[in-house]
Amino acid sequence: MSSLSVLPPECLLQPFPVPQRLMLGPGPSNVPARIAAAGAQPMLGHLHTETIEIMNQIKSGIQYAFQTRNRVTLAVSGPGHAAMECAIFNSLEPGESVLIAVNGIWGERAAEIAGRIGAKVNTVVTSAGGYFTNEEIEQALDKYRPVVFFLTHGESSTGVVHPIDGIGDLCHKYNCLFLVDSVAALGGTPICMDERGIDIMYTGSQKVLNAPPGTAPISFKE
Ligand SMILES: Cc1ncc(COP(=O)(O)O)c(C=O)c1O
Repeated sequence: MSSLSVLPPECLLQPFPVPQRLMLGPGPSNVPARIAAAGAQPMLGHLHTETIEIMNQIKSGIQYAFQTRNRVTLAVSGPGHAAMECAIFNSLEPGESVLIAVNGIWGERAAEIAGRIGAKVNTVVTSAGGYFTNEEIEQALDKYRPVVFFLTHGESSTGVVHPIDGIGDLCHKYNCLFLVDSVAALGGTPICMDERGIDIMYTGSQKVLNAPPGTAPISFKE
């Protein structure tokens, strides 16, 4: 008979007292008791009819929060990074041209992900804390002719909320998809996905939405 040489850890033999902390950064944010209680509901199987109904309700909720009628609207099981990867991997092929607006770390991160899948990465860059005018964006669209333009709506590394008006129309003029990272902004400032001509958008649960981390709402236009 084999003997256990790794003993049960002492620290797991008592509950861990999680303190109340006031969190005032972009996220994670404090979770209201109503939302925390929802996490203590009974477990369901993934094929139970109630699970399907809950998924449909989540989809309706995201369609409302994003102001979109897109059918492909769901919550990715993962953090904002998973939605970022999901959005980029599903809209770009190796060798295709992508344009990324870099005014902080999230544009840099998107450029890194796109580069790793072998896309031709082009950037418009401004200093941290800066933003881009529609004229600057149009010049870059015309120059690089990308299939996707990536913009961070709420750049949490600097606090800039980027203007969105008119950019969807510009992208479509150049036959390009408009992809928006609204992880740190959605819910804090209005963004109507369909009205703004946004083709792909995602957010994160643990920021303005005040839910625990680990789900990332995302939506794709047909
Ligand atoms: C603008 C932005 N995009 C993406 C992310 C990544 O989200 P997560 O930390 O949930 O992976 C963050 C996180 O701070 C963010 O602020």
